[in-house]
Amino acid sequence: MANTMRLRAAALLSCLALLGAPVAAGGEGLLPAGTDLGEQSLDEPREIFKTDVAGGERSYLVRLGDMAFSAPGILGPAARQARMSCATCHRNATNNPSLFIPGLSTKGGTFDTTSALFNPAADDHRLDALRIPSLRGTRFLAPYGHDGRFASLRDFIRNVIVGEFAGPEPPPVILDALVAYLQEIEFLPNPRLAAGGRLAAGASPLERRGEALFFRPFPHDPSLSCAACHTPSAAFTDRRLHDVGSGGFEKTPTLLGANFNAPYFHDGRYDDYAAVVGHFDRVFALGLGPDETKALVAYLRAVGDGEQPFEPAGVDDALVEVEYFVSVLDTALPAHDRPVIALTVDTVIGELRELMERFPERRNSVVRDGRAERGKARAALRELVLDLRRVGLAGEAGEFDAASAALARYRAELEAAAPALEDAEPYSLFDPERRRAYLAELQCLQSGAAN
Ligand code: HEC
Ligand code: HEC
Repeated sequence: MANTMRLRAAALLSCLALLGAPVAAGGEGLLPAGTDLGEQSLDEPREIFKTDVAGGERSYLVRLGDMAFSAPGILGPAARQARMSCATCHRNATNNPSLFIPGLSTKGGTFDTTSALFNPAADDHRLDALRIPSLRGTRFLAPYGHDGRFASLRDFIRNVIVGEFAGPEPPPVILDALVAYLQEIEFLPNPRLAAGGRLAAGASPLERRGEALFFRPFPHDPSLSCAACHTPSAAFTDRRLHDVGSGGFEKTPTLLGANFNAPYFHDGRYDDYAAVVGHFDRVFALGLGPDETKALVAYLRAVGDGEQPFEPAGVDDALVEVEYFVSVLDTALPAHDRPVIALTVDTVIGELRELMERFPERRNSVVRDGRAERGKARAALRELVLDLRRVGLAGEAGEFDAASAALARYRAELEAAAPALEDAEPYSLFDPERRRAYLAELQCLQSGAAN
């Protein structure tokens, strides 16, 4: 006993020595040890806006909604303290299969929306974790929630904020903005599908066989088929609730983009398509042979595919994203909209801090080279945070001209800082090799700390 404790302490110390700095494992002590918010991934899920596809300009409301989606400030105190936002669980409006919070998750990518941690009043005293769904194509997927309990997206979102996360009543414009933002987000393009959701030319014979099986009436209930519920011409959902033997009435989920949506079913109980097909085979006594299962799985893979699901992200992309959020101030400052100014400043400061973490401190021992460059990048980001704080303070005091002047200074400094950030990029965690080494150390640290 004493021995293993000493060993653990030694392991912890050796990780600490390697990292050179203590690491807050998400949530500054609020979230349980072993929490993984899945923030370490280098690639960003690709996000496609309806307006961009149409060649238009994203509206103020959409930009505000996008920013609010990344804003811990709209949620309640616990989420704010843990710096969690909608985007923590729905990365770029998708899912987050790595997210795991001990006591609230049953596996990666699931979360119990009714627990004491975020809202004691909503606690149902059960670990009933739900799969975090992707929000691509949201405007085609009403009613909302796995059990379809909200016909309106706006009502669903309000309940997330107030009911699940004990946040204050959101200003109507924030709700409108979140709705406008989510209604923009498209499914990934899928060249393997043609009009009406049918397989495109070039599909394999196995996929074609799977498609035929998908349309074939069930032997014991000819009114049913996979396609009867997962309507191919309507984003592969009839948007109705059904009892498919998974514990109650559940909304038919879309199958578009589903290759990236595991784990499957409302509670995330299945990890792959073969297990899902096995479920329907059992529950509806389909009598599928192994070849038929294989064909259905091949078909589901074709339907659930999407072009370029992830994009690598670098310093440039991070700066573009930050400026995109900052652009909300160009409307909010002249409008003297104090709550939006405060929310934007808080959110962008959070993003800048996150960016700073990608440039490890000088004394970090996993990333050893480029000390001077990293030091300069961190200093530049620290200055930018101070500038933004001045914008926030002036906004709070109702000195909107002073706030606009501070914003202009921030932008000038950002322009001056960009080269320093780019110079430091090769020595930062944006570099895949360094990131891998750093994550290995982080894991070492967390496995030591969790025991
Ligand atoms: C801690 C993780 C987490 C956070 C934070 C979070 N969600 Fe979710 N979200 C979930 C889970 C889990 C579900 C499934 C809930 C259900 O089915 O009832 C969900 C479901 C949804 C859905 C329903 C999708 C559908 O097709 O039915 C929408 C819309 C949504 N979230 C939007 C948001 C917005 C907006 C925010 C921020 C205000 C947010 N979520 C914050 C985990 C999260
Ligand atoms: C009676 C309507 C109905 C029929 C028939 C049906 N499904 Fe489903 N399907 C659902 C519902 C409802 C769920 C969600 C179950 C849950 O969340 O517990 C689901 C879930 C799924 C999922 C998981 C998707 C995800 O993101 O979680 C896949 C894949 C799927 N079905 C494929 C099929 C296939 C293949 C068939 C035919 C063998 C089929 N379904 C037949 C209603 C149906």
